[in-house]
Amino acid sequence: MKNVLILGGGGREHAIAEKLRKSDKVGKIFCLPGNAGISEIAECKDISPMDFDAVYDFIEGCDFKATPVDMVVVASDDPLAKGMVDFLTEKGIRAFGPTKKAAELEWSKSYAKDFMYRHGIPTAKSASFDTYKEALAYVERQEYPCVIKADGLALGKGVIICNDFDEAKKALSDIMLDKYFGESGSRVVVEEFMKGKEVSVLAFTDGKTIVPMVSAQDHKKIYDGDEGPNTGGMGAFSPSAAYTDEVRADFEKNVMYPTLRGLIEDGIEYKGVIYFGLMITDSGVKVVEYNSRFGDPETQVVLPRLDGDLYEIFDAVIDGRLADVPVKWYDNCAVCVIMASEGYPYAYEKGFDITIDNPKNVTLYHAGTRYFGDRLVTNGGRVIGVTATADTIEEARRIAYVGVARVHFKGEYFRTDIGLNL
Ligand code: AMP
Ligand code: GLY
Repeated sequence: MKNVLILGGGGREHAIAEKLRKSDKVGKIFCLPGNAGISEIAECKDISPMDFDAVYDFIEGCDFKATPVDMVVVASDDPLAKGMVDFLTEKGIRAFGPTKKAAELEWSKSYAKDFMYRHGIPTAKSASFDTYKEALAYVERQEYPCVIKADGLALGKGVIICNDFDEAKKALSDIMLDKYFGESGSRVVVEEFMKGKEVSVLAFTDGKTIVPMVSAQDHKKIYDGDEGPNTGGMGAFSPSAAYTDEVRADFEKNVMYPTLRGLIEDGIEYKGVIYFGLMITDSGVKVVEYNSRFGDPETQVVLPRLDGDLYEIFDAVIDGRLADVPVKWYDNCAVCVIMASEGYPYAYEKGFDITIDNPKNVTLYHAGTRYFGDRLVTNGGRVIGVTATADTIEEARRIAYVGVARVHFKGEYFRTDIGLNL
């Protein structure tokens, strides 16, 4: 039996932990920092995945005979961008996830754009700027709407869609002069606006073989009907109806394999998950963004559909033998509804009691929750994701919302149209 440490503490990490728990190869699961839900199935400790030395000390401190940490799953973007996988590998610890260099596909949008141009991968036209003055001169000549992005990581919030020059000017000044997203905004990418349906496709790769997972769609906006500001994701469903066989063939031929070939040509060994954020446009599938990890909340609808052993897949990815492992999926559908704190994605209060009244046929993936003594309380913007699987999206949606009605906390907020926007 192998013991696994997961770094992170959201709904995605809870879904990963749940799936690993089903593997008969997995013994104990640890999670840093985890959350209340994860602590039911894993040993959690309040250590930040960004504190590399503390993570290492935790691993070293585990009882080496009874429960050595055999594998570390680095699930979130910040520690990947800071080189956690490189750090652990140097210390002789098996880690799942890309190196810092490989993860650059996510942590620098300008690098990702150059990568796509270099390797002929379809994406929106764009230009990158390091000074406000040059960026401003460029946006004066653009057609609108156009999209302005902070180059670095910004919790999914560093993308502004501008409808006219005044909005673009404000966006540039917010990002580059007022540093809304800190150093992530020292460089900006200005991009052509793409029209179409968005689909997320995640894929496992060991650097030689790439295997796509089932498709998903997330609902990024806070309000029903895709209105209001962007969030980390208010819900998701899988599969996406927009991801037809034709779209899939286009994606695999023109995006997925060229991405792997491009990485190999550039001398980058990418091991882990590549998240392809896609726009299905009139002129074919284009890449909106790459992420170097599982998506949140996509993972909460994709992993429940995996008909196989996640540990075995992770293990094969690390060893470079993904081609030998079957990756199969159930022929079903999944819907996840996120219950959030009032005020999210802006300021919100924490510490409200959560009551859960025996929901049936759903899985609750905890995000911002913790135990305060033996009280279960809210501890973040996104609190709990309620996931259901069924034969159809409609049925999964119905069951998920029955589950939502059985979870309560002060100020609870959720969208009522998750899974409707097919
Ligand atoms: P990103 O963080 O790059 O995925 O952008 C966040 C969201 O902004 C995406 O999921 C899209 O909804 C939107 N977006 C980003 N780039 C574009 C684009 N070029 N055209 C249209 N929408 C975009
Ligand atoms: N759901 C989008 C992301 O994980 O970045």
